[in-house]
Amino acid sequence: MSAFFVASVFITFFIGRIFANISQRPIVNMTGNLKRIRASNLHMRLPLRRAKSDDVDHLSLTINQLLEHLEQSFESQKSFVANASHELRTPITSILGEAEITLMKERKPEEYQKALAEIVVSVERLNHVINSLMELMQTNLDHKDFQNIRVSELMWEIADELSVKRTSEHIPVNYIIPSGLADIELTGNRRLLFIAISNILKNAVKFSEGKMVTCEVTYFNHGILITVTDKGIGISEADLHKILQPFYRSANALKYPGYGIGLSLTNNIVRLHNGTLKIRSKLDEGTRVTLFFPTQ
Ligand SMILES: Nc1ncnc2c1ncn2[C@@H]1O[C@H](COP(=O)(O)OP(=O)(O)O)[C@@H](O)[C@H]1O
Ligand SMILES: [Mg+2]
Repeated sequence: MSAFFVASVFITFFIGRIFANISQRPIVNMTGNLKRIRASNLHMRLPLRRAKSDDVDHLSLTINQLLEHLEQSFESQKSFVANASHELRTPITSILGEAEITLMKERKPEEYQKALAEIVVSVERLNHVINSLMELMQTNLDHKDFQNIRVSELMWEIADELSVKRTSEHIPVNYIIPSGLADIELTGNRRLLFIAISNILKNAVKFSEGKMVTCEVTYFNHGILITVTDKGIGISEADLHKILQPFYRSANALKYPGYGIGLSLTNNIVRLHNGTLKIRSKLDEGTRVTLFFPTQ
């Protein structure tokens, strides 16, 4: 009797071990596969078993999705660093080149003046890129500096600033800001919101060569909707999903001044305020950008 009891305990124990091993095998395999994934091979994914579809597969699928996000943000970090260093290196190379060539021999005063003027242009470019990068980084830090902002007040401040800065060009922007908005407030960082909205307006003006730009502000769906419409050069469908990347500029935009940082900065600021940025555009017809900021 007792021998039978001991034998049955052993058998139960061994069968239990065998089942435990079988059921744990997928987890062990998964752990092994995960250990092989490094920064250098982030494209690797966990294999999914075709015949089965259980919790383990579900977990593998979720991990694969996480890896996809990781790979994407890793890639965009890499291209950001590459682009940023290119943007910083270009003006430095021309400053160095200009200075070295000028110093090679004795020159006339006009030649020194010309060389210095070109150096100043490159230094200004460098300054602009560095400032934009600092602003881009600030968007990750400024969370705490939120306050209540009267939307129409902010909009008129932006309109004032833009019209003062470019009096010689006369920018035709038609602002539609209903007086009913006077009491509507937004919680956010005033300086960053100022930068985001003016970037969109500056783009509309820059890429539409004097054609009328409209900026309409409405209260919609518990938030503020700012719609900027231009009849300018437009953005091709292929470029639409690239223009939010830092430093990206469409081919048709290259003859206008700029560094390709404004939109990505604006997008960061909008996300910081839990808002949305949407762009609709047709090449050679125009662009409509909508910014939405929830008010509660
Ligand atoms: N209103 C617009 N019309 C046409 N193209 C636009 C417009 N706004 C943005 N873009 C495109 O998006 C790119 C990125 O914009 P942005 O980051 O502000 O850079 P920048 O103004 O320095 O060119 C622009 O270079 C241009 O190709
Ligand atoms: Mg811009």
